[in-house]
Amino acid sequence: MESIGNSRKLVIEGGQRIVDFDNKAFKPIPQAGIDLAVQAMNAGVMYRYQPKNKETSLTATLEHNFSKYMGVKHTVGTNSCGSAMFIALNIVGIQPGDKVLTNAFTFHAVPSVIQHARGEPVLVESNREWAMDPDDLDKKATETGAKILLMSYMRGHVPDMDAIMAVVEKHNLILIEDCAHAYATLWNGQLLGTFGEIGCFSTQSSKGLSAGEGGLFITNNDEHAAKAVLYAGSYERLWTKHYDLDAELMDRLQNQIPGYSMRMQEVTAAMLTPQIERLATIKKIHVENWDLLYSLLSHHPHIEIPKPLQQVDSFCDTMQFHLVDLSREQADSFIDLMKQEGIPMQIFGARRNARDYRQWEYIQAHQDELVDTIANIEFACDLSMQPHLTQENIRTMATVIEDVLRYITDQEA
Ligand SMILES: Cc1ncc(COP(=O)(O)O)c(C=O)c1O
Repeated sequence: MESIGNSRKLVIEGGQRIVDFDNKAFKPIPQAGIDLAVQAMNAGVMYRYQPKNKETSLTATLEHNFSKYMGVKHTVGTNSCGSAMFIALNIVGIQPGDKVLTNAFTFHAVPSVIQHARGEPVLVESNREWAMDPDDLDKKATETGAKILLMSYMRGHVPDMDAIMAVVEKHNLILIEDCAHAYATLWNGQLLGTFGEIGCFSTQSSKGLSAGEGGLFITNNDEHAAKAVLYAGSYERLWTKHYDLDAELMDRLQNQIPGYSMRMQEVTAAMLTPQIERLATIKKIHVENWDLLYSLLSHHPHIEIPKPLQQVDSFCDTMQFHLVDLSREQADSFIDLMKQEGIPMQIFGARRNARDYRQWEYIQAHQDELVDTIANIEFACDLSMQPHLTQENIRTMATVIEDVLRYITDQEA
């Protein structure tokens, strides 16, 4: 590969393309997961309650194993993280019109779930590192009297959890954690997803556990778990095919909770079965790649990469950075040129991005003037770094980013 700097021409300058990898390609399903899924399909056992008992149910076993991995009492598989969050909001007793505190910067699935549950999102500002601002949370909780906090660790960014938990206690908030992007992510040694009453994970393809679609609901609360099983769509005595449930509680609740048909299916669980133990290996690759890219780019005059707080141990499967001292047009052309060079990226606050709260027209709060969040997404680039990327690929990414920035700023000179 040609060296960094002015010596190499970009494709846009008539040079040769040097990117021969796809930074966004999804993680493959491990062969053992494919084999299990094929076995389930060959046997015609795709519905989670078809197996005779919990021991032979792939979904129940996955739930049991995820609970062990997370160190919690209960996991309930769902068909998406959105479903897990919807069930969570129902469990904590949301009523139509209830205000729900959530991140102004997250993916639109999150406000959508609040709308689905007929709640009203109250958007809390995000800081420079794209995590929730505890001061604004305190302010919005005081102003609105909202009692539920659905907090998203968007792109794995973790707020000051001590400060957040102090606000949660002060206002007696019910915390539901959206951990779609926060697998194997810790604050002071504690896994995210275990701070609130309920944690929700996604197993959609781009996530740490990846199976096309799917979700995992976790809790230490027996009654929440019982209700989650029923809301997901367990009827009659099918709950006997789950681990760790309280039979008396299930008997009592069985016909009191509607079933929303949000179950995980056996084929999804099959694909996920070998992936829990893969998480540590994948995280190691992510962290090494992230650290390398950080070291290559962090001193660039047009790039600002906020570092996580020192208490945070991240999964690092993506990198975000702010473009600084560039015009809107320059930032837009950066994205266009990066795509042409073979490294697609997005800016959160541009081009009707689904992570820009101003695009969520189905909620009232999309009209809020959230100056911090706007400032922090306007020039924020988002780069996917899937674990197949080698350190050589990361060096190439850095080279191309630097060269494209040079090209753009030279044009202006
Ligand atoms: C931050 C965040 N939360 C929740 C979700 C919802 O996940 P799912 O697609 O599994 O419903 C997503 C989806 O990408 C997400 O990005």
